[in-house]
Amino acid sequence: MVSSSTAGTSTIVILDFGAQYTQLIARRIREFNVFSVVLPCTASLEKVRELQPMGIVLSGGPSSVYDADAPKADPAGRGLGLPVLGICYGMQFVAHHLGGRVEPAEKREYGDAIATIAPQHRLLEGLPRDLQVWMSHGDSVMELPPGFTVAAESHNAIASIADESRSMYAVQWHPEVAHSRQGTELLKNFVLGVCQAKPDWTPETFISSTVERIRAQVGEGHAICGLSGGVDSAVAAVLVAKAIGDRLTCIFVNNGVLRKDEFTQVQRNMREKLGLKVVAVDASKRFLSQLGGITDPETKRKIIGREFITVFDDEAAKILKAQEAAGDVAHDASGAEVAWLVQGTLYPDVIESSSVKGPSQTIKSHHNVGGLPENMKLKLIEPLRDLFKDEVRRVGADLGMPQEVLDRQPFPGPGLAVRIVGEVTPERVAILQNADEIVVAEIKKAGLYRSIWQSFAVLLPVKSVGVMGDQRTYAYTCAIRAVHSDDGMTADWVPLPYEVLRTISSRIVNEVRGINRVVYDITSKPPGTIEWE
Ligand code: XMP
Repeated sequence: MVSSSTAGTSTIVILDFGAQYTQLIARRIREFNVFSVVLPCTASLEKVRELQPMGIVLSGGPSSVYDADAPKADPAGRGLGLPVLGICYGMQFVAHHLGGRVEPAEKREYGDAIATIAPQHRLLEGLPRDLQVWMSHGDSVMELPPGFTVAAESHNAIASIADESRSMYAVQWHPEVAHSRQGTELLKNFVLGVCQAKPDWTPETFISSTVERIRAQVGEGHAICGLSGGVDSAVAAVLVAKAIGDRLTCIFVNNGVLRKDEFTQVQRNMREKLGLKVVAVDASKRFLSQLGGITDPETKRKIIGREFITVFDDEAAKILKAQEAAGDVAHDASGAEVAWLVQGTLYPDVIESSSVKGPSQTIKSHHNVGGLPENMKLKLIEPLRDLFKDEVRRVGADLGMPQEVLDRQPFPGPGLAVRIVGEVTPERVAILQNADEIVVAEIKKAGLYRSIWQSFAVLLPVKSVGVMGDQRTYAYTCAIRAVHSDDGMTADWVPLPYEVLRTISSRIVNEVRGINRVVYDITSKPPGTIEWE
């Protein structure tokens, strides 16, 4: 599998003990242009060594070191001779496994606390003596492991320990969360000071090393990529195209539930603005006929997923068979024919699956590509595996991709089908496309498009009575949804300015035949979800 390259860049490995803030640690470190990668705490020593890290961070976690199934970390236990920073559970882990004593605290510390620090330690250099920190722990370090001294104390507990000679440090608080003052300085002291990592993780180095690596791995082979029209698959495709040129073929499927004119617009963007080779397949009739009569949300999603795989398989098989017929295929060491599948998987997706299910790099994508020649293997290229969404946008900008592609709000795979409550019919799709176009245009006009995670219209199968001119109307209701979110996992509804809501409502009712009432969705997630289905 081809992921982004870390060769030659300073790397910090974060071993995840299951805290909800682990990704935030990675985030913070990468904000100072140092590459950091989260591995499950069960990662083997070899796996960690492979990355040639300059330091290791042990994350927090929900366990107690005395739990029967308390998570353990191989490299931390045996030591790689690298600088180590333990955070929260990470501190207790260090203390417990290096010969100290950890016990349930008399008083749990949760929330804001003051840590009084001994500033002579490199980790805490430049920080105020009384530091406001954010704690969340039940166990405390009661006895230090040999070689360690107390580096900070809170009212209730030892708050930080250090062994300068081995460059091992631990803090009981969470420097990565915003409530901990100067947490960024602390992490910087560790990463740039103690570990001596170089801030060399930039979009340019990422692009050049990734392109080089893809080129080396794919060689004379071919790759295919499913485009969604969204940012991730587009950036992934452009990166791969930069490496192997027109040996990359992209497939873009019209599933009948795209936004208005999206099928032609995306093709134009991808071909003309991004220079990609795109095979566009209009399968809208097939999708819409399968969706006929279906009202259950999950069934709709399943139908779209199933049809997509079938259409993608067929197209991929055609492309690869044509290449095979032309004798234009690469072979692996065993002589089997190899082609590559590009996916725009992002870092948060990887973390989620690797922490919970253990690291898995095996791809099942070839199962999806049923019509491929028997002896053809599909290998996965995921060039964005190590990136967060905003980093993907930075890379895209550095690749010269147009802002209109990079700024696009996320759009779900099942498209407008999950925004049409009840049955999806061609008539309803057209009504929603028209309403959606107005919402997007007005949100953009108000200068809000980039700051909002998603803003869209939903078509409800609820008809009500209205009056237009002297005419009675009896038509559908449209709900407007706009949410702020960082990752789609949680979301807050946006208090859109009344003027914007007024314009959206009046334009929809006046311009979209089939809708005579507009309502605004003021539900956050949880308990709601972002999409209605
Ligand atoms: P929900 O509705 O679960 O959505 O709060 C969270 C985020 O995920 C997007 N979403 C999807 N994206 N395929 C996708 O690629 C899907 O099936 C899908 N369902 C929801 C949704 O738009 C929101 O950003």
